Amino acid sequence: MCARISNLRNTCGLFIHKTPGIKLRKFQNNTAAMSTIEDAKKLAAYQAVDDHVKNDYIIGIGSGSTVVYAVERLAQKVQKEKLSVLCVPTSFQARQLVVKHRLPLTDLDVSPKLDVCIDGADEVDSRLTLIKGGGGCLLQEKIVASCANKLIIIADYTKNSNKLGEQYKKGIPIEVIPMAYTPIQSHLESIYKGQFALRMAVNKAGPVVTDNGNFILDWKEFDQNLDWAKVNQGIMMIPGVVETGLFVKMVERAYFGMPDGSVKVQDA
Ligand code: 5RP
Repeated sequence: MCARISNLRNTCGLFIHKTPGIKLRKFQNNTAAMSTIEDAKKLAAYQAVDDHVKNDYIIGIGSGSTVVYAVERLAQKVQKEKLSVLCVPTSFQARQLVVKHRLPLTDLDVSPKLDVCIDGADEVDSRLTLIKGGGGCLLQEKIVASCANKLIIIADYTKNSNKLGEQYKKGIPIEVIPMAYTPIQSHLESIYKGQFALRMAVNKAGPVVTDNGNFILDWKEFDQNLDWAKVNQGIMMIPGVVETGLFVKMVERAYFGMPDGSVKVQDA
């Protein structure tokens, strides 16, 4: 195994450590309980914020349920250490989180260069290629991440895969201009194996509409052995495609909260 209980990286670029300030629940015999998925998200998020946030940083705030813990930790750290930071949100949800924690907001007009972006992921492969956009925020997430010095990913252990598609079955999101979704669907089906499904809303009739007013096609049952850089480029050439949820060679480091209460760290 390329991991050990320490803060030192081994030859495989992986290391595992315990996150200070997070207590695992104890069984009656005083052994640590297996952590839940929520514990795992929190462990990864807290560790990433502790490791990557410094005074005067401009920070990209990702979207999703794991980022909730990162913003919680960021607010604690800012208050405790009297840090000055600025936050660039990647979605309506992220903006609400920043506002809720009374952290200072900025945007790419004012702050186009970020020190770090901390975000979640739907799946992370062995090369740190990501599927993102399960929450429909892929476009702004990719833009903000591309403006950051480093993209740090936080996730629970269920997101850690060898190949994309191994764990995550909801597909690779592709954000498209609404008037073009049918021709894009046909175009994609003529090139790639699998299904391209228009993402439907749950508590509203009709499709999901993104924060940018677009639709999402979810590419399911794809071949797991594709060259994702090439695939991303190919899909982006189709008129009407706005962005894909494939993040290729963008990540510097991923933190995975593990079932045993440790955090696995994987570097690019
Ligand atoms: C939203 C995203 C999220 O980062 C991704 O869906 C992971 O979310 P969660 O932390 O809730 O598992 O890409 O567009």
